[in-house]
Amino acid sequence: MTARFTGQRAVVTGAAGGIGAAVAARLAREGAHVLVVDIDARGAELTASRIGGTAAGLDVTDPASVRAALGGEPFDVLVNNAGMDDFGWFTEVDPDRWRKVLAVNVEGVLACTQAVLPGMQSRRYGRIVTVTSEAGRIGSKGNAVYAAAKAAVIGFSKSIARENARYSITANCVAPGPTETPMVQAIRDMGERGDTMLARMIAGTQLGRLGTPDEIAAGVAFLASPEASYVTAETLGVSGGMGLGG
Ligand SMILES: NC(=O)c1ccc[n+]([C@@H]2O[C@H](COP(=O)([O-])OP(=O)(O)OC[C@H]3O[C@@H](n4cnc5c(N)ncnc54)[C@H](O)[C@@H]3O)[C@@H](O)[C@H]2O)c1
Repeated sequence: MTARFTGQRAVVTGAAGGIGAAVAARLAREGAHVLVVDIDARGAELTASRIGGTAAGLDVTDPASVRAALGGEPFDVLVNNAGMDDFGWFTEVDPDRWRKVLAVNVEGVLACTQAVLPGMQSRRYGRIVTVTSEAGRIGSKGNAVYAAAKAAVIGFSKSIARENARYSITANCVAPGPTETPMVQAIRDMGERGDTMLARMIAGTQLGRLGTPDEIAAGVAFLASPEASYVTAETLGVSGGMGLGG
């Protein structure tokens, strides 16, 4: 394996498990010192101890704590991965539920990005990778608020790319398709309705299967690496072809 992150500092949000843990492990294997942050502080510590990184408990929806945790030492790489979904027909979703989904998936990305940008700007280097979803590009039946949130961060990321190109900072998104993580397990745990939803998602991919966290991490690592120096404002689908729709 190459070592594209030797000497670099990276922070990965929502890295207690799932895709975030795989991203943290991939960056660490390639030489980065990784700060693992998650609202699940114990899970963050477990990931950090496995990969030789450091951990902090952090709620991305609390801007003051985000600034305190991320605003000190400069980072070369920020991976905005923390996220949550909440299934239900949109007519049944009340504002408290949609505020929570928007807070984690959108405001969390804003807060973490704002916390690390000054350090990247002063060092004139940075890679910001935001984990969105194909739901943000093609919509998602039963997950409208999540899809809205994931679309919002694509627009945000493109704007950050525009504002920060003069500092050699790039901002890109990765759009996973259905991926074998606790998030997908939670869909299975919904029973028959969940099985139907999952089968529909898998059928929406061309490759006809779930992705693995390591497959998503490979896409994130490319965009986070120095070699992606001429790639900015993009959204890379790592979704088995789900972006085609149908
Ligand atoms: N698994 C999929 O099928 C899939 C598909 C498309 C996109 N995604 C996206 O990938 C990312 C990772 O998801 P995953 O599948 O690994 O899910 P996951 O539930 O395993 O991981 C999400 C992590 O985010 C953390 N988190 C939640 N709220 C937080 C908060 N307020 N502050 C800090 N951390 C918080 C959770 O504790 C958890 O560790 C998410 O952004 C998700 O929307 C996942």
